[in-house]
Amino acid sequence: MNTRDTEHIIAELNTHNNYTQTTNPQEADLIIINTCSVREKPVAKLFSELGQFNKIKKDGAKIGVCGCTASHLGDEIIKRASYVDFVVGARNVSKISKAVETKGSVEIDINHDETNYDFSEFRSSLYKANINISLGCDKQCTFCIVPATRGEEISIPAEIILNEAKKSAQNGIKEIFLLGQNVNNYGKYFSSQNSEKYDFTKLLQELSKIDGIERIRFTSPHPLHMDDDFIEEFASNPKICKFIHVPLQSGSTKILKDMKRGYTKEWFLKVCEKIKTKVPTARISTDIIVAFPHESEEDFLDTLDVVNQVKFDQIFNFKYSPRPNTPASTMEQIDSDIGTRRLNTLIELHKTHQDLHMDKAIGQIHKVYFEDLKPNGEIMGFSDNGMQVFVEGSEELLGKIVDVKITTNTRTSLKGVVL
Ligand code: 5AD
Ligand code: SF4
Repeated sequence: MNTRDTEHIIAELNTHNNYTQTTNPQEADLIIINTCSVREKPVAKLFSELGQFNKIKKDGAKIGVCGCTASHLGDEIIKRASYVDFVVGARNVSKISKAVETKGSVEIDINHDETNYDFSEFRSSLYKANINISLGCDKQCTFCIVPATRGEEISIPAEIILNEAKKSAQNGIKEIFLLGQNVNNYGKYFSSQNSEKYDFTKLLQELSKIDGIERIRFTSPHPLHMDDDFIEEFASNPKICKFIHVPLQSGSTKILKDMKRGYTKEWFLKVCEKIKTKVPTARISTDIIVAFPHESEEDFLDTLDVVNQVKFDQIFNFKYSPRPNTPASTMEQIDSDIGTRRLNTLIELHKTHQDLHMDKAIGQIHKVYFEDLKPNGEIMGFSDNGMQVFVEGSEELLGKIVDVKITTNTRTSLKGVVL
């Protein structure tokens, strides 16, 4: 999501303010840091990075802060680092052109409606297009700061999304990546009452009619909205990549309730079972938070039990990080060392599953979409079910989807030969 926001910022500044990009910060007339605030670490990093950039920037160069930390801290950023010229929140990207010209401006309104805003065009990849389909989040997970930084959930009109996908296809892009905090809640809230009734499944069906779009990916879906229609579409639509993120957060029904996730351990397991039954080749990734307030050893064992049953292909693990003004931050906290130990246990368990999955891939044939030529002559791409694959080959493979036989497992990625 932040990557796409950065692309929008670049596009707007290129089109309206005559900026071009440089890779050398000492040469820059404008330095922008696009921030995350989902956990505490990136927030702390912001002020040390700001200090570094302020030291090396050329005379008269401007510095701006964008993203979720901008939404969350607002003018406090300028109070703490007076050399910062402007602050633009994650929901206010459309105001960037004006903000860079207005010293001291702070644009952080989380109710600002950008859903009809047609941003200028800029994409960092020639092969894949990130496309926002909704802004904000209508959930209130008790650990999460996002609803306070990205605002209420609102869907972007389908027409704008379809046009972006068509334009990408015309430019030779074969893969689109749909972005939203709860993508499968798409269509629940539109800003205009007249918007046609739409849901995520219908959006997927319409997008897959576009010639030239061969792959559709999305993140993040919420387990609560994975109804049978959606799972059926995921299974039967050949353009939808068979790699799905199903964020667990915790395997304990008690903790899930405290997190206000809206599902139980059994319910989550049933969703994964349905996905696996309908699409045996599907790969599943997840997010897990350990050491959420009150998490007992027994609760943590429930998480390990879900991990053992689902055997996720990829896990993004986090130690709980208290966020300001969230209900969980005032609950009784767990000792940090316990969190570290649980995190390590989880990582070790997951490694064993990862090895199993990757070994199973050897000998299989996958369609790989090549996107990156490495200096050592290898070309990297991703299979339809999200595995990273390297082959020997020339730049002719870039932008092509080709059958590859997997030969070697290097744990985090695979090697193969083009057929
Ligand atoms: N502490 C730790 N992890 C968090 N996440 C969100 N908020 C927190 C927090 N306060 C994780 C969740 C979410 C992912 C994007 O970040 O797992 O799914
Ligand atoms: Fe945060 Fe929960 Fe919304 Fe995800 S669904 S963005 S974790 S509040």
